[in-house]
Amino acid sequence: MAAEKLGSRPVDRILVTGGAGFIGSNFVHHVVRNTDLSVTVLDKLTYAASREAIDALPEDRVELVVGDVADATLVDKLFSDHDAAVHFAAESHNDNSLHDPAPFIQTNIVGTFTLLEAARRHDVRLHHVSTDEVYGDLDLDDPKRFTEDTPYNPSSPYSASKAGSDHLVRAWVRSFGVRATISNCSNNYGPWQHIEKFIPRMITNLVDGVPPKVYGDGLNVRDWIHADDHSSAVLRILEQGRVGETYLIGADGERTNLQVVTALLRLFGRSEDDIEFVTDRAGHDRRYAIESGKLRAELGWSPRFQDFEAGLADTVDWYRRHEDWWRPHKQATEAFYAAKGQ
Ligand code: NAD
Ligand code: DAU
Repeated sequence: MAAEKLGSRPVDRILVTGGAGFIGSNFVHHVVRNTDLSVTVLDKLTYAASREAIDALPEDRVELVVGDVADATLVDKLFSDHDAAVHFAAESHNDNSLHDPAPFIQTNIVGTFTLLEAARRHDVRLHHVSTDEVYGDLDLDDPKRFTEDTPYNPSSPYSASKAGSDHLVRAWVRSFGVRATISNCSNNYGPWQHIEKFIPRMITNLVDGVPPKVYGDGLNVRDWIHADDHSSAVLRILEQGRVGETYLIGADGERTNLQVVTALLRLFGRSEDDIEFVTDRAGHDRRYAIESGKLRAELGWSPRFQDFEAGLADTVDWYRRHEDWWRPHKQATEAFYAAKGQ
């Protein structure tokens, strides 16, 4: 197998944590399709994982190791066998972090610390995948968007745990010379996203003839990007990003939640009167918006999915075709929300 250059060193196998999750599995597919690299996935297979998402990939290109990123012995062994790692593994849902923050601290902070220590010992190139939520939120009428210089100001236990993990990465770069980069991306959509999240929850409600449940007044803004575009950006940063740098990833996809739900209702031939407004999320961030000029200018990246409504229609089709995957989780997911009036 041809070795690829990541930064200054030839690499033929990378480690991907959380590679059985929504974005991590998309990234593994992206790497298999677009490079000669082989991939070792380290994933604990929590409730959010989908083994099916990577099952069909060739065995000689992708190996799954079931384990915890906070398991220092396992992580040390894996880092001793790899020259580069991309860290997606996380507890990722804000609503869950409001219900029980403990796993967020353990996986997102202790897990990242564990990887950093192994990267330091074995001089492994590390890319840390983070979120725009570390910057807090913007007002609806604020002309500003988040940049790499925006001060950290997280709101939820989830975003605080991601902010903590980013700070650890920055400190390990500065204090120990770990060869790491960070990316902070906006809201992703696409196949294999757990139905606890907004777009898949709304789609699967509509499939079931149940009203879409919109928190608060529905005017909160999220900046949507297709998971494939997140993957291409992460690969570009891994290959060409400058060590120690942070890159923001976004596709200029700002929409209010009501705009997203209205677009979905149109795709299902339903009326806006069908929307049900439910109890708001505690501490609900008002608006996220990404300025991704640094990534575009420095690394020449641009998103492939420019038409959000078309990407949404493809995603609806995907969920219609994969009901056997999500159906077993729908009842428990809805019971969790119903208990909170959502
Ligand atoms: P996800 O919840 O769909 O997947 C997370 C994966 O990590 C799962 O496969 C899970 O089994 C695994 N995992 C969890 N705890 C683990 C542990 N202790 N050890 C090993 N594996 C573990 O998450 P996602 O939406 O795909 O997000 C992936 C990453 O991208 C996260 O770091 C998240 O913060 C970041 N991110 C997500 C979005 C988004 O819109 N979803 C946007 C920006 C950044
Ligand atoms: O910005 C990046 C972040 O995007 C990632 O770091 C997180 O991992 C990811 O989950 C996502 O966080 P959000 O909290 O923005 O996503 P969520 O899908 O939970 O909600 C999107 C918006 O929709 C938010 O304003 C809350 C609202 N919402 C959500 C659900 C589940 C509803 O109105 N109704 C719902 O049922």
